[in-house]
Amino acid sequence: MDLALTNSIYLFLIFIAVLITQAIAQPSFSGRYCDVGKNYTTNSTYQANLNHLLSTFPPNIYTADHTGFYNSTYGQNSDKVYAMGLCRGDVKPEACRSCLNYSTNSIKENCPNQKEAIEWYAECMLRYSNRSIFGVVETNPRYWFWNVNNVTSNVDDFNQVLNALLSDLKDKAAAGGSLLKHATGNETAPNFQTIYAQLQCTPDLSQTQCTRCLDVAMADIPRWCDGKQSAAIISPSCNLRFELYLFYEPSSPIADAPPPSPPSPSINNRTTTQGKKSNTSRTIIIVVVPTVVCVVLIISICACLRIKRKEGEEEISN
Ligand SMILES: *[C@@H]1O[C@H](CO)[C@@H](O)[C@H](O)[C@H]1NC(C)=O
Ligand SMILES: *[C@@H]1O[C@H](CO)[C@@H](O)[C@H](O)[C@H]1NC(C)=O
Ligand SMILES: *[C@@H]1O[C@H](CO)[C@@H](O)[C@H](O)[C@H]1NC(C)=O
Ligand SMILES: *[C@@H]1O[C@H](CO)[C@@H](O)[C@H](O)[C@H]1NC(C)=O
Ligand SMILES: *[C@@H]1O[C@H](CO)[C@@H](O)[C@H](O)[C@H]1NC(C)=O
Ligand SMILES: *[C@@H]1O[C@H](CO)[C@@H](O)[C@H](O)[C@H]1NC(C)=O
Ligand SMILES: *[C@@H]1O[C@H](CO)[C@@H](O)[C@H](O)[C@H]1NC(C)=O
Ligand SMILES: *[C@@H]1O[C@H](CO)[C@@H](O)[C@H](O)[C@H]1NC(C)=O
Repeated sequence: MDLALTNSIYLFLIFIAVLITQAIAQPSFSGRYCDVGKNYTTNSTYQANLNHLLSTFPPNIYTADHTGFYNSTYGQNSDKVYAMGLCRGDVKPEACRSCLNYSTNSIKENCPNQKEAIEWYAECMLRYSNRSIFGVVETNPRYWFWNVNNVTSNVDDFNQVLNALLSDLKDKAAAGGSLLKHATGNETAPNFQTIYAQLQCTPDLSQTQCTRCLDVAMADIPRWCDGKQSAAIISPSCNLRFELYLFYEPSSPIADAPPPSPPSPSINNRTTTQGKKSNTSRTIIIVVVPTVVCVVLIISICACLRIKRKEGEEEISN
């Protein structure tokens, strides 16, 4: 009996370990847009160009001044494909490349014949199109997520602190150079809570363009996420997020020490401009189902072995 209990605990620990390993391997999905109004035909030149471009993405160049922004094109004339990848400014090069690599496979699978598509993860974004997307501000499609929990303090007081923080970070992000337009920061809110926020534009935008994009994103907060403890807004050209806990890697000098914080479990109910539901649950199911099947198999095998052994022991004792 004791042995069985020990076995169960071991199996449970293995289960948790496997779960954590798999969770780390996958970036945290936020949203996807497939432009179903712009389909390509199977086996077309566009498809070949797109597959080639995605297979080389992110471009295999390692630069010391990693900025987490990649863009490239492939093909000629109307079959030319434009792609762009952007990692959240605090994401390390390895995690950045891994996220973009994951997305190149996922986007092909989930937008099987669209000329234009976008995938967002907490760590990165991947876009491609048959038109030039460099240096163009795009605020649509735009998705917003929020935490169901309301702020516990006075909403007006909370908003005042939040708006000041976001405006400050918007200016900082927009003022970033042509390599990185990203800003993070925190501010003390009423009730001794701390608001952590992160804003980013694709760095191909000008300062004015970035400001315009973030203004549009910020305007969604009072409209859709007023009084919520956290929210995130994602669009093709910029994104922002705020939480009551530290979710990004703070910039130097501590930057090199702590491991990245886990992805956002607190954003529970996600709604989008298209009224689509996030498929976070599917991601979790994909992770959990094989693991559960595996564990059940192991348990069954162990149980069978134990029963077999029990039978054997009984035979001997009889
Ligand atoms: C494009 O393809 C999708 C399926 O991938 C389909 O649902 C949609 O109707 C198609 N759009 C057009 C304009 O043919
Ligand atoms: C596309 O090409 C593959 C391999 O060349 C072929 O098997 C398939 O039938 C083609 N599909 C269409 C729709 O032409
Ligand atoms: C990538 O974007 C930069 C602007 O940030 C632009 O100068 C460059 O031409 C683009 N690269 C390609 C391959 O289009
Ligand atoms: C990219 O993803 C593919 C398929 O998921 C995987 O086989 C490959 O090792 C990955 N490459 C990198 C550099 O992570
Ligand atoms: C992109 O594809 C769509 C649909 O096939 C087409 O209407 C549009 O003109 C294309 N854009 C460019 C720049 O080629
Ligand atoms: C948050 O506040 C809204 C409006 O005041 C209310 O409808 C909702 O139930 C609250 N949510 C929670 C989780 O308390
Ligand atoms: C919080 O803000 C203070 C003052 O701006 C700054 O010194 C500190 O590094 C910030 N902490 C984090 C985790 O961003
Ligand atoms: C999320 O929304 C669904 C309905 O859309 C609701 O049933 C569920 O309780 C909500 N979850 C939370 C955590 O509020």
